[in-house]
Amino acid sequence: AMDQEDAVRQELGSLHGIPLFKSFIEGWPQVKAFQARPDDLLISTYPKSGTTWLSEIMDMIYHDGDVEKCRRDAIYNRVPFLELKVPKCPSGVEQLENTPSPRLVKTHLPVQLLPTSFWEKDCKVIYMARNAKDVVISYYYFHQMAKIHPDPGTQAEFLENFMAGKVPYGSWYDHVRGWWEKKQEKKILYLFYEDMKKDPRREVQKILQFLDKELTEGTVERILHHTSFQEMKKNPAANYETMLPTLMDHSLSPFLRKGGISGDWKNHFTVAQNERFDQHYQEHMAGSDLHFQMEV
Ligand code: PPS
Repeated sequence: AMDQEDAVRQELGSLHGIPLFKSFIEGWPQVKAFQARPDDLLISTYPKSGTTWLSEIMDMIYHDGDVEKCRRDAIYNRVPFLELKVPKCPSGVEQLENTPSPRLVKTHLPVQLLPTSFWEKDCKVIYMARNAKDVVISYYYFHQMAKIHPDPGTQAEFLENFMAGKVPYGSWYDHVRGWWEKKQEKKILYLFYEDMKKDPRREVQKILQFLDKELTEGTVERILHHTSFQEMKKNPAANYETMLPTLMDHSLSPFLRKGGISGDWKNHFTVAQNERFDQHYQEHMAGSDLHFQMEV
């Protein structure tokens, strides 16, 4: 049997053309056959786009702003990660099978790979997107600390791989556009990290409306406080510090790194990199009515 060490710094495999961790690909048959329940709510994102933030907000909403209940377990157990599969740990599918309804489910899968059961059961989906420049920088630091990823090389090398879609979950452009287009036909609430940063109250109200749920002003206030960057960073149930050290090394880079600001990419991109990125970005977003704020 594979050890956890075997999943460390391994090269990526390919799942229907999407680069992905080999251990996740091994677990794919179970994910593909996953049986969603009609009251499942799917939290879908490209990596590093605010998944954990949205997950904490959703768990708080589901528990009427009860902070103690939301400390019952780590966020990665409260909101299981559908396609997660690493040696010697319960898989996402196994975790979900043992989770009582109504379940919150996390995925990073591109829209075309989502198990069909979610569509058949007409599950609600909340997608959160974040601007590509902050995503690539966050992803670069995450590659350093989360050792399931291949070595990212230099920032310049990683930038090239990201633009070419040669990173886990593939092209950011295809991901955000794919889910954006799906919104035409399915129950998808499409949110932006930058909007959440700018006016979290308004975004939480959008979520409540989408869920047909009402909460008192005071409860919303408590949710906003508990899910702020500063609060989440010091909350062991939200900051991933309880994760196995073989898999994550927070001394290399903390999980909640710079989310206190949006537009951190400016501290990392050179002028030349930025020009090249903008050019490539325009080519790959051409013809889409999907627009991002590159800072808040
Ligand atoms: S993962 O591994 O893909 O699930 O990561 P994900 O949670 O999507 O993204 C991590 C980034 O989100 C930032 N984050 C936050 N920003 C603002 N407010 C809150 N509450 C918050 N929680 C997490 C986190 O800091 C990562 O971004 P960077 O830019 O690296 O700091």
